[in-house]
Amino acid sequence: MHHLPCCSRFQAWTVRPEIAQPKDSLDGYDTVFLGYPIWWGEEPRIIDTFLESYDFSDKTVIPFCTSASSGISASERNISALVTIGRQLTGKRFSASASENDVRAWYESLPLTE
Ligand SMILES: Cc1cc2nc3c(=O)[nH]c(=O)nc-3n(C[C@H](O)[C@H](O)[C@H](O)COP(=O)(O)O)c2cc1C
Repeated sequence: MHHLPCCSRFQAWTVRPEIAQPKDSLDGYDTVFLGYPIWWGEEPRIIDTFLESYDFSDKTVIPFCTSASSGISASERNISALVTIGRQLTGKRFSASASENDVRAWYESLPLTE
């Protein structure tokens, strides 16, 4: 492990970086937008820390990411395999230069009810 460069060491499967100021619970939230940059083709491991920290079995989770070129599907598979999620919507990948309008258009296309 110590032979890996710093960033890939932090991205090893079992690493779970601590969240600096975690919420006590996600009670009161039905829908969670889960946004992250793609690192080495996947979600950063702190996203896994977040997923393992709460109960998502009755929540809708919507993954979205930015990346240089990688798609979102590997991270979507990881997320759905890691914890039980009530409803996981198909995720969306944006380039790092995505505009507010790009994000708004995606948001408005989502099958969410008030
Ligand atoms: C450690 C690290 C690994 C990355 N790996 C990938 C990758 O595998 N595929 C990719 O398309 N972009 C990769 N990137 C680029 C990031 O996805 C991109 O910088 C990010 O989406 C933009 O958000 P930021 O401004 O928070 O970095 C990587 C960036 C970092 C720092």
